[in-house]
Amino acid sequence: MTTPAIPLHDLHPAPDDFLGEVLAGLQAQPKTLPCKYFYDARGSEIFDRICELEEYYPTRTEVGILERYGDEIADRLGADCALIEFGSGSSLKTRLLLLALERPAAYLPIDISRDHLMSAAEHIAKRFPGLVVRPICADFAGTLSLPELPDTVRSKVVFFPGSTIGNFAPEPRLALLRRIAAVCAPKGGSLLIGIDLQKDVATLERAYNDARGVTRDFNLNLLERIKRELNADIDVSAFEHRALYSAREERIEMHLVSRLAQRIQLADASIDFRAGESVRTECSYKFAIPGFADLAARAGFELESVWSDELDHFAVLLLRTG
Ligand code: AVJ
Repeated sequence: MTTPAIPLHDLHPAPDDFLGEVLAGLQAQPKTLPCKYFYDARGSEIFDRICELEEYYPTRTEVGILERYGDEIADRLGADCALIEFGSGSSLKTRLLLLALERPAAYLPIDISRDHLMSAAEHIAKRFPGLVVRPICADFAGTLSLPELPDTVRSKVVFFPGSTIGNFAPEPRLALLRRIAAVCAPKGGSLLIGIDLQKDVATLERAYNDARGVTRDFNLNLLERIKRELNADIDVSAFEHRALYSAREERIEMHLVSRLAQRIQLADASIDFRAGESVRTECSYKFAIPGFADLAARAGFELESVWSDELDHFAVLLLRTG
């Protein structure tokens, strides 16, 4: 028996301008690089290893919350919902939620990477025979439209796990929440979102400075990727990993710090680094629930429920639009 192909809803996201964005970032002051480029094949593999680290508490804590409170969450969401996932990351979290939900009517993952998206969609379709699976290829930084939903759908639930929203600075974060609210329109819907919470600085910094150096490799892989894909002349060993918490900005910042004064070549440009100069590669915002709820309210969401672990390290929030 052959399985029918899964229809793709393709919104044709604009291809990334890797060189342009890298050049712009490295020519800016202070220097930055976009964190979305961490996830090539090697970077995605390293990220999976990060999620298993003792120091990196977010993944296991969120999974623990979904395991422990899955039935309660499912009760709140009700039967026959269409689950719309932002990003097609960990199928474990998706599976936990789909297993808990009563008669889920459809699963619609949204991702910019067609390959990622289709393999996630196929994986879920195989495990949940009969579930309508409709992957959407789109950039969730852009406008989103949904394919036609089955008649059995009674409500829409956007699932946005992993504190991925923590990569968005406050303004783009609000814009993203508004786009999510628009996906829920016209009749309103729910947003089930995982957010990493503010906590003691030592715990936060340890999570991004693991003893085995997996996060260091993840960070340095961005330079390896630039070197490989853009033919840049870079001595990767001349940079070191640094991660620190800024209490003022309420975020972990990851940096690549130049060990010495050096010049690198990229396309037609040469870029100079001072000894000790850093390139900021990622911001990972940490939230307080009231602050997050206030921002979400500006996008039209009302906070309905909060689930968290005993240590209040991570929270899963249920928000609704009317
Ligand atoms: C996938 C953005 C949630 O910010 O913790 C993990 C990425 N970077 N370790 C995070 C990450 C370094 C992760 N997010």
